[in-house]
Amino acid sequence: MSPPGDHGGWANEDVVSECRRQLATLFGIRSPANIVFTSGATEALNLAINGLDLTGRHVVTTDCEHNSVIRPLKALERAGRISLSLAPCNAYGVVKVDELARGQIPLD
Ligand SMILES: Cc1ncc(COP(=O)(O)O)c(C=O)c1O
Repeated sequence: MSPPGDHGGWANEDVVSECRRQLATLFGIRSPANIVFTSGATEALNLAINGLDLTGRHVVTTDCEHNSVIRPLKALERAGRISLSLAPCNAYGVVKVDELARGQIPLD
């Protein structure tokens, strides 16, 4: 435990808990304990993708995703846990979802 006046340990934990509580209120999340802070988007996306049980699923994403999405999905595909399709994006990073849903766009 930190000595009085030291802004380490317990004081920081209080700030993080309060931050979790306020974010839970803002986003309507029942349990603040379910909020996880990460070092950045890559860690958050890796955690989310690997935290889902995608075993046996067919995952469709786009061919313009950031490596933080593509790499964990490709790793799951290589491990034989999922099959993966990449929908093509146009030059503006847009996927024609209607055409995709109608099967008019071939997937990789
Ligand atoms: C769309 C997108 N996703 C994820 C990331 C990775 O973010 P971070 O650097 O916070 O890991 C970036 C970074 O530029 C990004 O542009």
